[in-house]
Amino acid sequence: MIRLHIGCGPNILDGWVNIDSVARAPGVRTDVDPLAMPFPDGAVAEILAEHVFEHFAFAEEERLWRECARVLRPGGLLTIEVPDFEWVCQRFLAAEDRFRAFYVTGSADHYFGAGRALDQRWGILQTMFFGNQNGAGQFHKSAYTRGKIRDIAAMLGFAGLDQHTLFNKGGQAIRAVLTR
Ligand SMILES: C[S@@+](CC[C@H](N)C(=O)[O-])C[C@H]1O[C@@H](n2cnc3c(N)ncnc32)[C@H](O)[C@@H]1O
Repeated sequence: MIRLHIGCGPNILDGWVNIDSVARAPGVRTDVDPLAMPFPDGAVAEILAEHVFEHFAFAEEERLWRECARVLRPGGLLTIEVPDFEWVCQRFLAAEDRFRAFYVTGSADHYFGAGRALDQRWGILQTMFFGNQNGAGQFHKSAYTRGKIRDIAAMLGFAGLDQHTLFNKGGQAIRAVLTR
């Protein structure tokens, strides 16, 4: 049974093929391109992709979604978690517009002096638009709402979709489970 963990970062899951463009931990497969995966149609039971779909460019996201749909077997599950772009936009507009400090290149969690405060525009909220940019692959190139995920699921013929929101990584995220 093949299970794929796309954009795993340092989170290595036993029994999964842990895939990332950057090896942040031993065992990460950097040779598997999520846009052209070396698996036959219907060979994969499950795909997990947490906080990575938004790292693919506009011109790549269709290939990413179609590739996930192609390799999943009927009844297989695609679980994605992405920043809730509608929530981010609402919180950004409601937040205070005070710029306190420039970004420190490569910092793990600097966020321009406003830290993780959600009542400030130029802190973690900004990184939810653009990624935290603290290393290779850590840039956001696209965004998701519940409606966009619903429409893509229908467009690609997924049989089921369950979506909920949760608070994770300092902001609101959408977790969607799509059944092939
Ligand atoms: C925000 S981190 C999320 C890591 C982990 N999934 C988590 O939730 O903690 C995004 C990860 O996606 C990876 N990534 C970005 N673009 C990628 C691509 N084209 N192919 C594979 N991985 C990619 C990055 O290297 C990074 O490790």
